[in-house]
Amino acid sequence: MIGRGGIKHIDFIEPTTKGQQDLKWLYQSRKIPSDKYNIYPCVVEDFAENKQYDIVIAEGFLDDMNNQEEIIRKLSSMCRPGGIIVVTCADSVGYFVEIMKRLMAQVLAKDIEDFEEKVEFLTKFFEPQLKTLKGCSRPARDWVLDCIMWSSINNKYSFDLNKALDLLKKEFYVLGSSPNLFTDYSWYQDVWHDTVLEYKKQFSVKRMSLLMAGMRETESQEETVNKLVCFFDDIRDVEFKYEETRDEKYIVAIEDMLCKISPMIKKADNHFFTVFQQIQLSLRDISLNQFDISKYPQFFQAFGRSQQYIAFEKKNLNE
Ligand SMILES: C[S@@+](CC[C@H](N)C(=O)[O-])C[C@H]1O[C@@H](n2cnc3c(N)ncnc32)[C@H](O)[C@@H]1O
Repeated sequence: MIGRGGIKHIDFIEPTTKGQQDLKWLYQSRKIPSDKYNIYPCVVEDFAENKQYDIVIAEGFLDDMNNQEEIIRKLSSMCRPGGIIVVTCADSVGYFVEIMKRLMAQVLAKDIEDFEEKVEFLTKFFEPQLKTLKGCSRPARDWVLDCIMWSSINNKYSFDLNKALDLLKKEFYVLGSSPNLFTDYSWYQDVWHDTVLEYKKQFSVKRMSLLMAGMRETESQEETVNKLVCFFDDIRDVEFKYEETRDEKYIVAIEDMLCKISPMIKKADNHFFTVFQQIQLSLRDISLNQFDISKYPQFFQAFGRSQQYIAFEKKNLNE
């Protein structure tokens, strides 16, 4: 709920005990009175309060779910007309660099059985890399747990910006995204202008800009982008198979796929191509037992634009 002085009240929906504890700790440590927020210990699908909110935020979980449509329907019913909804999107393009770092980590730490020991080893390994990421305030250990040890970035689902636009377009207007990928070219006389279709086209050509934080916006042909997206999906699946089996044939399969897409990546973006070549080199070195992190400085510093945010305003369909 929002009032004149800003946000008056927040309802959190958080199914896990750890998440609930973290929220309580955060609010108590900021000395925010407990009547300013509620925590509902359930999944959003089971949220039974009949309330409509000014702002609904679904942060960082939709891409991990197999019932995205059900969740979007629920979230949409919780937003008042004129209210705002913000959802996080993620796909195998924005996660490509992270998936490659994940593969590297799985190989380098494959002989460490103890969970804590593994986390410690990987935290030491990735901390200097994360320090090069502008604006990153997340502790390296948390990043390692989320991105390397758990399955959150490496599942078989995706929730990309196209899907968010498709699922929300009927009931919502698009306000914008972060990173900002959409330009509204509608003109006052063009009453039939289909903004969502226009945005989907823009996403289809600009999508490779998600490959790496800090890279300039890049445009590629839609056909090339579609091919690359299929490859990135496959690479993510094969990496997951490697994690399950530790069979090195999957690393070879990834090397083959990288070889196939190399000309397309070169054409798409020269800056990213340097990183891409270092990823290829690091995989080759891993296979030959010659891995040396100092040989891949650009890969070391690279991170994907792994999560994107998109905001919508609910239409008042009765007007
Ligand atoms: C990546 S975290 C982001 C959390 C929070 N926004 C933050 O910045 O720390 C995703 C959160 O979504 C929660 N979650 C997962 N599935 C959910 C569901 N179906 N309904 C509500 N929350 C869910 C998880 O427990 C987790 O706390």
